[in-house]
Amino acid sequence: MKHTPVLYEEALKHLSIKQDGIYVDCTLGGGSHAAGVLSRLKTGHLYAFDQDDFAIDKAKEELKKTGNRYTILKENFRNLASALQEQGVKEVDGVLYDLGVSSFHFDDAKRGFSYRHDAPLDMRMDTERSLTAKDVVNTYSADELKRIFFSYGEERFAPQIARNIVKSRQKQPIETTFELVDLIKASMPQKALSKKGHPAKRVFQALRIEVNDELSALKESLEAAIDLLKPDGRIVVISFHSLEDKIVKDLFKEASSVDHPDFLVTMPEERAPFERVQKKVIRPSDAEMAENPRAKSAKMRVLRRRKEND
Ligand SMILES: C[S@@+](CC[C@H](N)C(=O)[O-])C[C@H]1O[C@@H](n2cnc3c(N)ncnc32)[C@H](O)[C@@H]1O
Repeated sequence: MKHTPVLYEEALKHLSIKQDGIYVDCTLGGGSHAAGVLSRLKTGHLYAFDQDDFAIDKAKEELKKTGNRYTILKENFRNLASALQEQGVKEVDGVLYDLGVSSFHFDDAKRGFSYRHDAPLDMRMDTERSLTAKDVVNTYSADELKRIFFSYGEERFAPQIARNIVKSRQKQPIETTFELVDLIKASMPQKALSKKGHPAKRVFQALRIEVNDELSALKESLEAAIDLLKPDGRIVVISFHSLEDKIVKDLFKEASSVDHPDFLVTMPEERAPFERVQKKVIRPSDAEMAENPRAKSAKMRVLRRRKEND
């Protein structure tokens, strides 16, 4: 299935693309956002990151007709600064993040992202990394599993699920997505099972975030992106998880505040070097949410580096 990008027009609008600018798409995926950026460039350049070979192949197809003003980097976006430096890039006009996985990750049964397909428990976006979901499920302590399911998945039956996983793996390792789905279901009361939404959704999300170390990668990358931004440059982030949004919100707030010890009064002429383009989070329209279920949890935030004379 083709990946339908969320908040497509809004992201491009808020990047405020200059024809000669240097832009970074940290999450190339199927390449739709990247194609949008490229169609607005004349002499500028786009550097596009993805850690997933399959996504890169898809994007190459999508970008075939967009000319050659782009460079694809197979990298984790946590290495943003060093990877750009290798390309001779020290500052940029805009950085885009459209976080999470693509629809085709879920559709590709053998990647183990989906509770709907039976497959080995994998969930790595970068298949060269060693930690898989199978390692997490079979080696983490019950307490660690509980913490992950609670904090990354907001799963209220985390203790029961963690306990059952540990009990089951003492007999034999848990190898597949369907084995895990059965264990999750067996850990929940009937009432919870009959609720809307798949019972394994939250645990699968939590495992994916752990396996790909998604939250630390985002924080490190955003800190680097803030440093790389030129005056009038922007960072646009679309996130799908409350913990991701919290990282973005806190970093953008810090960058756009003038930091003072409590006993000092802020002088009116003092300004932070950055501003939040819209303080309130930007959400997809009702129409987009009705059309694309992925859009329901999407939140967009935008940070801009001020110009000297702003
Ligand atoms: C939601 S998709 C992006 C879709 C894209 N905007 C489009 O228009 O098709 C997210 C992509 O980011 C990649 N990704 C997620 N985290 C990453 C990271 N830390 N480093 C590099 N790529 C990452 C995933 O592999 C996936 O292909």
